[in-house]
Amino acid sequence: MRYSSLLPVLAAGLTAAAPVEQRDVAIDFNPPGGDVTILNYALTLEYLERNFYQEGLANYTQADFVAAGFPDPFYANLCEIYYDEKTHVSFLAGALGTAAVHEATYSFPSTTPASFVALSSVLEGVGVSAYLGAAAAIVDKSYLTVAGSILTVESRHSSYIRAALKESPFPKPFDTPLDFNDVYSLAAQFITGFAPGDPALPFKAFPALTLQPSQYPYTAGSSPVTFTHAYKNALAANLISGDEPVYAVFFSGLDTYYVKTYVTKGNSGDLKVTSLPGATATMLAPTGQVYVVLSTADGVSSKVSDENTISGVGVLEVNPVGQRTGVF
Ligand SMILES: *[C@@H]1O[C@H](CO)[C@@H](O)[C@H](O)[C@H]1NC(C)=O
Repeated sequence: MRYSSLLPVLAAGLTAAAPVEQRDVAIDFNPPGGDVTILNYALTLEYLERNFYQEGLANYTQADFVAAGFPDPFYANLCEIYYDEKTHVSFLAGALGTAAVHEATYSFPSTTPASFVALSSVLEGVGVSAYLGAAAAIVDKSYLTVAGSILTVESRHSSYIRAALKESPFPKPFDTPLDFNDVYSLAAQFITGFAPGDPALPFKAFPALTLQPSQYPYTAGSSPVTFTHAYKNALAANLISGDEPVYAVFFSGLDTYYVKTYVTKGNSGDLKVTSLPGATATMLAPTGQVYVVLSTADGVSSKVSDENTISGVGVLEVNPVGQRTGVF
């Protein structure tokens, strides 16, 4: 509790320093059903992860991972991660009892050991962001400790997989909280059907956002980002009027960055930002697993919210540049 007196001071300092936008996720959104809904939300994500590792470990052998450049004990550690996810499922399902949702059906796009590991990295990062974003909405403090206890393990998985991909295991001093609908939008891409009879969780997926996959990994402050057909799709769905400005809103750590998009020439109806935001006097550069949504909010007159999000969530891997002086 010794930090609680410090936090308002810190927050006030940051507000005075403007134009930093610190994320204020979930705090203003307590889902109907309260903690039971939040635990079922966590369980839904854990089922997804369990299913993902179960399939991956069945699809690929230890030799396949070694051949793909992931030397021992990588396979053994994947088995350990699978065991953790399985245990999270049985723990949460046990805690919820008859209120627990059941396992959905899933489809994952990975077809090789390398694409499996790349997706594993995204899913572990999303897991961290999900628990972090939900934390403020949890009412019962003992659940908060349980969620924190799972969160730190997910973040260790994330670091391990990132290191295996030769990415920074801890790319930024802060992890990124995501709100329920952002996470739900990411998870929904892999869910093909819900168990019959289960109550639907009170969350929605935004229209999908596709990034043109030409710039991997991205560099803060310089890489352009193209959102394939995003303008055309938003117009067709009546989510924007023809001349309404659309902003790409990037989430990284506790920072939120707004960048105005423009419509590309030609018929593809893409939206594009000239370059990813970089570090400023008050904000760290977006780094590591960065999330992006399209929104009509400009960050000044209005802030990004579920109501003004028109598409998302995209995931980018952004190289750390200019933040670290080296590896010691
Ligand atoms: C496992 O293999 C099947 C068949 O190729 C594929 O559809 C599925 O996406 C794979 N699962 C994972 C998690 O890689």
